[in-house]
Parts: sequence; structure tokens; C-alpha cells
Amino acid sequence: MYASFWSLCLALLFLLVLGTPAISSRVLELSDRFIDVRHEGQWLVMFYAPWCGYCKKTEPIFALIAQALHATNVRVGRLDCTKYPAAAREFKVRGYPTIMFIKGNMEFVYNGDRSKDELVDYALRMSGPPVQLVTRTDSVDMLKGSHTIFFMFVGPQQGIVWDTYYAAAEGYQEHGFFYATSEDIAAQHFDFEQLPAVIVYKEEQHHFYPHGHVAHEMDPNDVNETIFQWVNVERFTLFPKVTRFNIHQLLKTKKFLVLAVVQEDKLSQIATHELEFRDMVEGVIRKHRPRYHDKFQFGWIGEPSIAHSIILDQLPTPHLIALNSTTQHHYLPEDDPLQMTPQALHLFLESIGNESATAYGGDTYFVRVNRALFELKRSLREMWRGNPVLMTVIFGLPLGFLSLIMYSIFCGDCLVTEEEQDEDHEKKE
Ligand SMILES: *[C@@H]1O[C@H](CO)[C@@H](O)[C@H](O)[C@H]1NC(C)=O
Ligand SMILES: *[C@@H]1O[C@H](CO)[C@@H](O)[C@H](O)[C@H]1NC(C)=O
Ligand SMILES: *[C@@H]1O[C@H](CO)[C@@H](O)[C@H](O)[C@H]1NC(C)=O
Repeated sequence: MYASFWSLCLALLFLLVLGTPAISSRVLELSDRFIDVRHEGQWLVMFYAPWCGYCKKTEPIFALIAQALHATNVRVGRLDCTKYPAAAREFKVRGYPTIMFIKGNMEFVYNGDRSKDELVDYALRMSGPPVQLVTRTDSVDMLKGSHTIFFMFVGPQQGIVWDTYYAAAEGYQEHGFFYATSEDIAAQHFDFEQLPAVIVYKEEQHHFYPHGHVAHEMDPNDVNETIFQWVNVERFTLFPKVTRFNIHQLLKTKKFLVLAVVQEDKLSQIATHELEFRDMVEGVIRKHRPRYHDKFQFGWIGEPSIAHSIILDQLPTPHLIALNSTTQHHYLPEDDPLQMTPQALHLFLESIGNESATAYGGDTYFVRVNRALFELKRSLREMWRGNPVLMTVIFGLPLGFLSLIMYSIFCGDCLVTEEEQDEDHEKKE
């Protein structure tokens, strides 16, 4: 009875959606009945609680996303988990907000930046097949205009390179765009010599997976490993903005992560002297890409507290920090960053590369305990600023508090607290 009523509503909604863009571009308010209709189409859903501050911050962004996606087959909705706990249980929602892409029986939890552009890109990626075929030459121009990075397979869609490329695209669909096209179309855009070719296009340049044409002579395991690893490291631009969300992906490159730290204000403005420092670093590494590409991934941080979490200390801005992504040791330049010349930057990078620079921190038990305490202090400060009432409630729950400490000590991946999420305090009570 309810189900059919709902279907009717949904059908009406679809009519409205198709007929009038103004209504379709709204965020749909979902309820427990969403469990029944989740299989119908594709959804980007925010699971939220009315009291959660981060949810409120994400709300206007979701409105923009709904507008941006209104012409696609992705529907944008939100679900109040305090009103509809059955749905929250069904989707195993553990913190607020949780953003999920849902298609068919599959659901994917979004872990990236909660910005409009990132989320729209994400929804578009997830809504298609892992590899999309490009059949017109002007489509490649469009891709070049609309994506900062994409991967392209060129050649007959068969054989080990194709199979592995497809598998890698499935594995990394949440993180990148993957396409395939014919030799004729590709020839008008890229200068490849042999086929099959696997290309990454970024920042107006293209680079090749180095073993494409000889792969049939290689051990299949090596082909698999090298393509996955190549995609894993090439999916980043030369100098991305690093946040608490994407830093975990950047660390998966297993390279040294070298980050320029500056202070961005609420309007994303950066002071001139800090901007000059950041531009100096970017200029040097852009000019010397081949020299550092194998061992280093660069980036910049606009929120110094991320850097503080890495070195467990305060740090004046602008600054430069380097991080060994395997051991989590970090390095700091000896000179005052403001006086740093390109030459000094080269020396700093070389001394990290040959491991003669002094390494701090690491991932020992002692550092972990320190890190947990540091993060706890930071979270408490932030939570107090965000919601003094909630804090009072938490202090009344010493047990929950203790478990929070234990959790941070024993979790394996504490480098930077992973999510800007409000824990689900209601359930603990
Ligand atoms: C290929 O490599 C990936 C990543 O290392 C791994 O997850 C996958 O199982 C491998 N596939 C095969 C067929 O070996
Ligand atoms: C990190 O440190 C380990 C141990 O010293 C070293 O083997 C590795 O090459 C270093 N570099 C990176 C990028 O992980
Ligand atoms: C490492 O690199 C630094 C900077 O270029 C250099 O001064 C030092 O001699 C190098 N050390 C080794 C062991 O190669």
C-alpha cells in the first residue's frame, strides 16, 4: 500500500523532473522508503543529522550539486538519519554527514573534499561505466577542456594491456576518469608511436605508460603491477591543493610528499609573501619535473593545522615540509623558508632523496601516542569552538571519551584525522 503510494509519488516526481528543470534541480528529501527505491536509478545522497555542524555547512553545496546534475541521470537527495533510523541502519551510516553514491546493489562512501566541483565530478564518474568510449574527435577536445586529468587507452580493446587498464579503471573509478578511443581519433590529439598506448593527460601535457607496446612480452603479473602502480601515481596533478581528505590518497603514491604550507583565510585569500613562496616552489618543480617525478609528489596546504598534525607542533607560515609516505618520517628545511632560493630548494630535495637530511617523527609507538594526544587536543579545541553544548555532553560521558583516546592510539592510520565528521553521539547514549 505504502510502496505503491510512493511509486506514484515518484512517478509524478519524475514527470516534474523531466518537465521542469527548476524543480528537478532541488535536493530531494528522502525517508525510510528510500530503501525500496534505491535500485531505481543512481543517487548521490547525504545522510545527515539536524544537529551536525558539518552537515549544515554541506547543505548549500548540495543544493548547487543538485542544480549542476539536473540534466544527468543522477538524483541528489538527503536523508535525516535521526528521523529515519531504519534507512541509516540499512546503509550503515556511522557518522554525519555520510555522502554515498548508490547504484543498483552497490554503494560507495565518498571520502573526498566536500566541494561542489569535486562532488559533481565524482557523481559523473560513478554514474558511467569504468571506461567510457570516445567516438568523436571533438569529444577529446571537450575532455581536455573539462578535466584536469584523464586516462586514455588507444588501440584495439583486447589483450592484456586493455584487460588490465579496464581492471585499473574499475579499481580507481572513484578517483579518476578513464576513456578509450581508436587510433584514428587519438592520432589527432596525441603523438604516440606504438599501440596499444595508455596515456594520462594532465595540465596540457600527456605522458605514456612506459611498457604499453612491449607488454605482451612481459610477465602478466608485472604488467598488472606496473599499470596499477602507474595509474596510482599519475592520477595527481603536479601541485595539487592538499586537504585532510585527499592526503590519504596522496600518501598511497609511496613517494616523498613535499608540501608548501601557507595560510588561506575564509575567502581563500593568501597573503602576498606566502603566495610568492608557494609560486617559487611550484615554479621550480614545474621546470624540473623529470628530475623529481619518480621520487616526489608535490602539493600545497592552505590550512596549516594539517601540517601541525604531521609534525605534531606549530609551524609558522609559509613553510615547507616533506614526508616519507612509507615511514611517516618528516623533514623540514634548515633555512628560513622566506629566504629560500631555488638552489636551496634543490639541495633540500636532494638531501631528502639520498636520505642525508635529518628525519623527525615516524610511526613508532611513542609517536603514535603523542599523535593521538595532539589530535585529541586539536579536536577538542575545534569541537568547543563549534558546539560548546555538545562538548558539555561529551564531558559527561567519560567512557566514550576514553574509547575515543584508545581508538586514536590503536587505529592504524592516524596521521591526519580522516574525516570532518561528527561522531554519532546519540547512538552511544
Ligand atoms: C593486479 O594488481 C592489483 C593491485 O596491485 C591487485 O589488486 C589485483 O588483484 C591484481 N590482479 C591480478 C589479476 O593479478
Ligand atoms: C622512506 O624511508 C624508507 C626507510 O628509510 C626508505 O626505504 C624509502 O626509500 C623512503 N622513501 C620513500 C619515498 O618512502
Ligand atoms: C646528498 O645530497 C646532498 C645535497 O645535494 C649532498 O650535499 C650530500 O653530499 C649527498 N649525500 C650523499 C651521501 O650522497
